[in-house]
Amino acid sequence: MSDSTHAWSTRPETSADTTAVHAINSAAFETPSEADLVDALRTDPAAWIDGLSIVTEAADGALVGHVLFTRCHVDGHAALALAPCAVLPEFQRTGAGSAAIRTGLEAARAKGENLVLVLGHADYYPRFGFTPASGFGVRAPFEVPDEAMMALSLDPSRATPRGTIQYPAAFGI
Ligand SMILES: CC(C)(COP(=O)(O)OP(=O)(O)OC[C@H]1O[C@@H](n2cnc3c(N)ncnc32)[C@H](O)[C@@H]1OP(=O)(O)O)[C@@H](O)C(=O)NCCC(=O)NCCS
Repeated sequence: MSDSTHAWSTRPETSADTTAVHAINSAAFETPSEADLVDALRTDPAAWIDGLSIVTEAADGALVGHVLFTRCHVDGHAALALAPCAVLPEFQRTGAGSAAIRTGLEAARAKGENLVLVLGHADYYPRFGFTPASGFGVRAPFEVPDEAMMALSLDPSRATPRGTIQYPAAFGI
């Protein structure tokens, strides 16, 4: 259950947040790989989209969570990759991650984005509307359990591309 005592605020990251965003990703994951990935993506203008790196802020202004959406492609058509999402361990399961993801999805929708892809926990992302990417005819460019590669259409009235995901170079895929 998410902790309703926390009313998290969320906003796009600014240039003042990069150290805190690195620290959140370093703390949330076992290795610095995800933190370094975020920094690499930030320097890639083909991948980075201003306004789609979202931070969750505590009442005292400290940052506790982060989610990033970057440009990927499916069969040459633009899509978004949600990765990574991270919350400081002491604040996990208090809604900080969900708050950032919901804000990021709304920001993406407002920018006219449609297809969003995520590789992650199959019991976490469906709450945001994600379903197996295979149902969209979208495949990961590597072996992955079907339920872990998920997709969401922000505007179901629009067609979505089918094919294999091409990640930004920083993912090293
Ligand atoms: C996964 C993560 C981003 C979720 O953010 P969060 O703020 O802790 O989660 P929220 O409070 O928004 O949501 C809580 C829900 O997430 C679920 N959840 C949290 N971590 C989970 C995990 N590792 N696996 C599956 N579900 C998880 C909880 O079960 C909870 O579900 P419930 O509300 O039904 O009880 C965060 O726990 C984290 O940073 N984990 C370590 C890094 C990581 O694994 N990132 C995701 C890569 S896909």
